Amino acid sequence: MIKTTTCGKLYLAGEYAILNPNQVAIIKDIPIYMTAQVTPSEHYSLSSDMFNYSVDLTDDANYALIQESIKTMANYLELKGKVLTPFSLKINGKMEKEGKKIGIGSSGSVTVLTLKALALFYQLHLTKEELFKLAVYTLLKKGDNGSMGDIACIVYESLIYYRSFDRQRVKKWLLEVTLEELLEKDWGFTIKPVKTNLSFTFLVGWTRQPAISSQMIKKVQASIDNHFLSTSKKEVNHLYKALETGDKAKTKESISLLSQLLETLHPSIYSPKLKKLKNATHQLDAVAKSSGAGGGDSGIALVFDEESTLELIKRWQKENITVLYQEKMRGFHDK
Ligand code: PMV
Ligand code: MG
Repeated sequence: MIKTTTCGKLYLAGEYAILNPNQVAIIKDIPIYMTAQVTPSEHYSLSSDMFNYSVDLTDDANYALIQESIKTMANYLELKGKVLTPFSLKINGKMEKEGKKIGIGSSGSVTVLTLKALALFYQLHLTKEELFKLAVYTLLKKGDNGSMGDIACIVYESLIYYRSFDRQRVKKWLLEVTLEELLEKDWGFTIKPVKTNLSFTFLVGWTRQPAISSQMIKKVQASIDNHFLSTSKKEVNHLYKALETGDKAKTKESISLLSQLLETLHPSIYSPKLKKLKNATHQLDAVAKSSGAGGGDSGIALVFDEESTLELIKRWQKENITVLYQEKMRGFHDK
């Protein structure tokens, strides 16, 4: 039996801008996992704890992404001179709390998970770049129009710096070239792990108000202009450099600026609760912002001393904001 997992993710910076080509974002892996188990079987059987029934390979709307991922794997196996043979695939880990989605996963994570599990099952050695490209190929075929930053983070399972590719161009290639050629092409993205050299506590505050990214994007998209794009890119690059060089002041400044930029982009991003989450850092050695599409879900904070951490958590609790995850990040000089 094969068993594997994929992590969750949250945006630190670069949301919305990253939907455009050649923009940048910083995205953090969150170690809350989804699990897949694959066993050989007489017949194909797919089950997910999201739904209370199993399916085979007959098209099913709920299982569409898993089934499309299997089609991708079948194509890829063919390239390697192998064939798809029946298996049973079980997926667990809804990334929910109190029956509400917590917004750290994405519909895309199930694609990465399915491909990763099947690659192990068929003993294929996929590089991270190949896994990323196969997942994106699958999602583009299904009409997903996200930036794929979530996919990059979930594949690399690390805090990453992501530079986006031109999705329209890759979509065109989908119709024109074979999968083999597509995998060989340079899509023009960058994904690199960020080596933070700054010590802080990373906190995730959950508003308990689920938001749907695709709906948020529809609301916000028309407001994205060149000024927003160039400022976001500049500040994400500053943040990247500040994290790597351990520059606390610049880290705080960039995150604040990026937060303000999102706040002015569209009023629906900072929900009243996300505003409270951010303002709770007042006079603490900390900086906070909304994460991802906003409108609910979670916000993040970087806190630089123990006292501020305890105080921020207390202030969040008063506002009914739950700490979903916390992690101590250490600069390499402090280790
Ligand atoms: O809310 P999340 O974690 O799904 O993040 C969405 C980020 C956007 O930039 C708004 C959309 C995207 O696909 O990058
Ligand atoms: Mg979200």
